[in-house]
Amino acid sequence: MPTLVPDTVASERIALPRDCSFQPDDWHVLSRSWFPVARGEDVAGKPVTARLLDLDLVVYRTNGVARVARDLCSHRGAALSLGWVEDDMIVCPYHGFHYGPDGACRSVPAHPGMAISPKLRITAFPVVERFGLIWTTLNGDEKPVLPEFEAWEDSDYQSIMAPTIDINGSAGRQMEGFLDVAHFAWAHIESFGDRNNPIVPTYKVTRTPRGIRADYVSSVSNYPKGMQHLAPPDFEWLRVFEVFPPFSARLIVHFPDGGRLWILNAASPVAARKTRLFCPLARNFDKDGSVEAVHQFNLQIFNEDKRIVESQKPEDLPLDIQMEAHIAADRTSIAYRKLLKEMGLGQLYVS
Ligand code: FES
Repeated sequence: MPTLVPDTVASERIALPRDCSFQPDDWHVLSRSWFPVARGEDVAGKPVTARLLDLDLVVYRTNGVARVARDLCSHRGAALSLGWVEDDMIVCPYHGFHYGPDGACRSVPAHPGMAISPKLRITAFPVVERFGLIWTTLNGDEKPVLPEFEAWEDSDYQSIMAPTIDINGSAGRQMEGFLDVAHFAWAHIESFGDRNNPIVPTYKVTRTPRGIRADYVSSVSNYPKGMQHLAPPDFEWLRVFEVFPPFSARLIVHFPDGGRLWILNAASPVAARKTRLFCPLARNFDKDGSVEAVHQFNLQIFNEDKRIVESQKPEDLPLDIQMEAHIAADRTSIAYRKLLKEMGLGQLYVS
């Protein structure tokens, strides 16, 4: 019986990793999307490692420009991340081969002056640096497809890059948790939620050209505990969620007096059940306030979520709506699951 291979596979830059933890079809779909693999500020003089969709990557800069390649020398398979950068080339630590930004080998120090085989090249991936993050795609188009997060580049806003968070859970589960509005009174009582305010008012979810949007109005404050007196009594909090599939979502929280807090939840699927969360923030108030306090509050909230995500079973997000029970408050997560299904991800689970 012939094996069915999707048309797209033939044109892919890179094949399924040997130790792939995803369903093969899901991996092929996800490998066409763009994901963040490092914070720009973490990539300076030395190459650093990253992992995306079970593939080891090296992230580095040449003349200030971010580069991403497979962390694998084409000569004897040594990790390029153990090497260093010279001019616009990365140098392998084993025999000193030099590779240019296009991946081609430019120097074999053992044989200077001899022709270099075109086979001697590393796999270099498209890269863009935006919102303080270095983004790449394994098999997607060169033209980046990123979430929208304009406040990061708006001079009226202060941009703050939160520390990354590593989660032993799937990116789908993490994303759904970020979109969930019924858990504030339960999972977040230490940070901002109120056990006495669990009711979720009806809200609307709409389709957008890129994904979905949910406008959620409630009385749940977004101030940390101890600062909640800052909002006027009866203030109505608007939270606008926008999903950019598969694993990015933007939340704009409307504070009193025109204050806006933008949060980008960019979940990078390291493996089927491992996620690195990147989280740039931007705000147009308290711009002289403590950045460290923002980091701590953000970390507290995401760690409260992490505890839940790492406990969920099945670990992957069931895209078959019948597989879990739902309540009215779950309308965003139901729409999100449908969106992932439309992308061509698995009928039962996706990570
Ligand atoms: Fe990299 Fe030999 S393994 S140069």
